[in-house]
Formats: sequence, structure tokens, C-alpha cells
Amino acid sequence: MAVAAAAQALPNPLTEGLERLPVPPTTLSIFGATGDLARRKLLPALYNLAHEGALPQRFNLIGIARKEMSDEEFRGFAREAITSFSRRRPDPQVLEELLGRLRYVGFGFGDQDGYPKLKAAIEALDADAGMLLNRVHYLSTAPGYFGTIMESLKAADMNWHADVDVRVIVEKPFGSDLASARELQAVVSAAFREQQVFRIDHYLGKETVQNVLAFRFANFLFEPVWNRNYIDHVQITAAEDLGIGSRAGYYDASGALRDLVQNHMLQLLTLLCMEPPTSFDADKVRDEKVKVLDAIRPLRPDEVARNTVRGQYLAGAIGGEDVPGYLEEDGVPADSGTETYAALRLEVNNWRWAGVPIFLRTGKRLARKVTEIAVQLKPVPHMAFQDDGAVGVRPNQLVLTVQPNEGVSISMGAKVPGTRMSIRPVNMEFLYGTTFMSQSPEAYERLITDAMRGDATLFTRNDEVDAQWSIIDPILSAWHASEAPPEPYEAGSEGPPEADALLGAGRSWRTL
Ligand code: BG6
Repeated sequence: MAVAAAAQALPNPLTEGLERLPVPPTTLSIFGATGDLARRKLLPALYNLAHEGALPQRFNLIGIARKEMSDEEFRGFAREAITSFSRRRPDPQVLEELLGRLRYVGFGFGDQDGYPKLKAAIEALDADAGMLLNRVHYLSTAPGYFGTIMESLKAADMNWHADVDVRVIVEKPFGSDLASARELQAVVSAAFREQQVFRIDHYLGKETVQNVLAFRFANFLFEPVWNRNYIDHVQITAAEDLGIGSRAGYYDASGALRDLVQNHMLQLLTLLCMEPPTSFDADKVRDEKVKVLDAIRPLRPDEVARNTVRGQYLAGAIGGEDVPGYLEEDGVPADSGTETYAALRLEVNNWRWAGVPIFLRTGKRLARKVTEIAVQLKPVPHMAFQDDGAVGVRPNQLVLTVQPNEGVSISMGAKVPGTRMSIRPVNMEFLYGTTFMSQSPEAYERLITDAMRGDATLFTRNDEVDAQWSIIDPILSAWHASEAPPEPYEAGSEGPPEADALLGAGRSWRTL
């Protein structure tokens, strides 16, 4: 007991001085409030925050969309969304209390007369509260509207307030290549200061993604091997069994590289490879992440074919059900060359990582949904075991599973009980589900409260976005210029066989 108490009393250098600030009184305006993201993610996240008492006492939500709708109709929409998609069954009292805080203002995002109406609605809520509330504008619209909304907020004098904080949350994608991201950034910086801007990458809100930092920087055990002397290679996988659903319009113009690699996967890479920040201050963390991205040398056009693979799914079967191929999906042009699978080999050229290949792969309609980071160590330098003994010895693998079966596992060689020295890989595992016995919050719950609180640690800074696109742009251009179609792979498979060659001799992808 004494030991435990003493341990508790020790200051924790990671969290010291970082007590979570309370969420200040806020009016949140969601542009695109009747869209899919609001329905499936944002409204249910707000309900769960309300359920946990994590919303400020003074909190209002204004939904904005083109459709004419009364407050009551919007509440009906939100009630249905929350009931269908909340991770917990809604408590009627909490739900009705939250719905009571909802308002709706209908206008097209390009309609300049709409913004003064929104401003009046926000000010009316201040008047009801008898105080000024912070303003957070959430842009959950098609990306084509981001610039228009920012400019219009500025024109209506809604981008800044002398007495309260005004923030803007921008959904992804932030641009569709380096040039368009820079154009959008120019509009953003004309209307808002960087500290006001919260660019979403919902992977950063996932508990298990944040655990990459905890795992690396709250443990001493792994640091000595976390470098090119001990690590052979890294595999980052974001596989999905789902197809593109009803998103053909968006997806066909995007493809796997823009949809998942440019943002989520590069974020996973930076968290895995960054140096320890001196503190968990938003800018200190993001400075370290940018250094990693800057250390990835963009591929030259002649290197792209050797270091990347793109694929497109054919018809197949998943979970015993037949599914169509990408070209047969509703809304996809019959001759589309869009990739639904991408695999890349990158290198982080700094002292810690030089020479360690980092492989990324993502795809739709693969064998199963799994997101994980696998770090494979080098083989032991000398195999003392003879014959049988040496057969089962495999390099250690450390796997951080982001989803599902969230956890961390470490593989190691162990002696099989018996009179002979035979060795087999065994796993040491930590699973969130059984260790903490609680359901993790959805990423959006964490991100919405962080943005309301003004903590930008889990949001992408402008220079990060720029650096991400600088890595992706040359690949996009080379793929675009190439006559070759994407490699076909069967739905429900491990992806195109061509991806195996990317790894090089003696390495193989982890089975999905
Ligand atoms: C989104 C992509 O950003 O992430 C989707 O646009 C993808 O295509 C999704 O399905 C995956 O997110 P998650 O949280 O389900 O892994």
C-alpha cells in the first residue's frame, strides 16, 4: 500500500500542468447540419457528451443547411440521428434536454443574407443566457463550400469577437492536392488566425491513436530500440471491408491515396516516428510531427512505380456475401481508373529512422476491417539454437492495433514445453476492452470538446497539411500520368499481389 501511495504521489512529467481546462460556455454552429456526418457522428457525439455531463452548462447548437426547416423539425432530425447512431441508448431526459438547446437557421452557404440571420440567432442566444458565449463554427459541408463559408463569416464580421473566442472547425479534406490546399489556406488565413482554426483528422481523436503517444512517451522500455539500429521495417495498415457505399461522387474524384493516406495514415506515421516533444503543448507536439513529415523525401517521378502500388477491387465475396466490383458500384464511371487500394514505401530521413522502410497500405473491400501499426524488429544477430530450435524463431513484432480489438501486442520467441529446445512465437497482449472494461468515446466526442476548449493538439496545423500534400502530390501526378490501370484485386482478398513485391525479399505483409 505504502509503495502504491508513494507512486501516486510522484509527479507525472507528461501530465503535470496539463489539467484539462473546463469547456467554456459555447454556441456551436454546424454548417451542413442535415448531412451524413452530422447525422452519423456529430449529433450522436454531442448526445454522448451531454450524457457524460461533458458539455458546458451554457451550450447551444445551431444547425445550418439550405433546407427550410423549423427548430422543431431539426430537433426531430437530431432525435432520429441520435437514436440511430449513438454508441449508447439515449436516456430520454438527457436527450430532450439536449434537443431543447438546438436551433435551426436555413440558408444556402453562398447566400450572403443568411449570415446576418445566423449572427442574430447567436446573439439572441447570448441574450437568453445573459452572457456572451464563445462561438465555434463547424464546417461539415462538401469541401467546395469551405472557402465560401470562411469568406462569408468574415464579411458578416463573425470571424472575430472582442470579448469571446471565435473558432472554426474544418472537416477534411483540406484541399485535393498541394495547390488547392494552399489556395484554401490563403482564404482561411485571410479570415482567421491559425490559433482559431481546428482542422479535423478524426483519427487523432481515436483513443488508440493517442495511445501511440502514451505507449512511446510514458514507457522507458521501448525507447532504446525505437530506431534504425533495431527496427527492420514498419507496416501501417488501414484496411476496410466496406466498399464506397453511396459516396461514388466523392470517392471517384478522390481515391484511396487522398482519402486515407494523405491524412489518417500519415498522421499515424508521424506519431510513431516523432521525437518526444518537450511538453504536450499543441504547438510543441505539432512542431515534432512536422519535422517527421519534412524528413520524408517526396518520391521522384521515376521512383513512384517502384515504391507504390495502386489497386481497384473486382467483384468478390465478403463475409459470405457477394459484392460488386468498384466499376459496378452505383455512380462509378465504367472506365474509372480511381484506386481503391494504395500501398507505399516511404522513408523518414533522419538519424533515428534513415534506412528503415515504412510501408503503408489501405484499401476498400479487403478481407476485414483492421487498422494497425506493426513494428518489426531485426532478427537476432546470431542464432545459437540448432536444428529444431532455430525453426520457430521470428523477429519480434510489436503491433499497436487501432481498431477493432484495440490494444498492443508484442510477439516473442518462447520455448515450447518439452525435452527439446524448440521455440515458437508467442504473444503478450494488452487489450483495451478487457483491461479498462469501459467503452471508448468516439473520436468526435474528444475532438469537439477539445475545439470548444481551444486545445489544438489533436488537430492538423497548416504546415502539417502542406507537408502531407508535398509527399502525396508527386505520387498523384505520376499515377495520373501513367497509362497503366490500377492492379485488380478480388473483393474480400488481401489486396493486389503486386503489393507483396514492394516489401522486398524476406518480408511479408501481415495477414488481414
Ligand atoms: C474517412 C474516409 O476519412 O475515414 C472513409 O473518408 C473511411 O472513406 C473512413 O471509410 C475510415 O474511418 P474509420 O474511423 O472507420 O476508420
